[in-house]
Amino acid sequence: MDILLPVIIAYLLGSIPSALWIGKLFYNTDIRTKGSGNLGATNTFRVLGPKAGFVVTILDILKGTAATLLPLVMVTDVHPLILGVVAVIGHMFPLFARFKGGKAVATSGGILLGYQWPLFLLAVAVLLIALKITKMVSLSSIILAVVSVIYTIIYTINTGDYLFMAVIFTLATFIIYRHRANIARIRAGTEPKIKW
Ligand code: G3P
Repeated sequence: MDILLPVIIAYLLGSIPSALWIGKLFYNTDIRTKGSGNLGATNTFRVLGPKAGFVVTILDILKGTAATLLPLVMVTDVHPLILGVVAVIGHMFPLFARFKGGKAVATSGGILLGYQWPLFLLAVAVLLIALKITKMVSLSSIILAVVSVIYTIIYTINTGDYLFMAVIFTLATFIIYRHRANIARIRAGTEPKIKW
């Protein structure tokens, strides 16, 4: 019980398809049929505009944070980072959206916010710098995943926090794998750029 219930709650939290529900509730739009078709914050910005995009970004981040903070409100033997990863799995394969979800970026960021918030700020800074240079959210997300792995190797040498390293490696793998179609478009020169 100390294991199963929190894992189920973390998965259900991650499964909340905020991009789908915000689109349907407030814009009468199923964003799976527009833009990149992805149920994520970037496609929400693209299809529904900055207000909806911002709200979905916050909600998707908070799913990871809430899962990571579950041990504060319930008795569990599951490590906060593992609950965060379960939420990311829920985000990628959501029960409430036929198991077709997003690309793991915002919800992974939410884990950092819940576990060590300064690292979240660092990740936001890296993402914004990459975005300023590349103008592509997908490429910036991939760069962030790679930078996180490099940072974590250095961090782990100093701290010995091998679980953290394993979690960051897992999240980076998820993020890069979920961006397969974007990588193909980047290589073909057809990936959309943002105006910034
Ligand atoms: O976080 C997802 C982003 O990196 C790419 O989204 O909609 O351009 O495929 P999208």
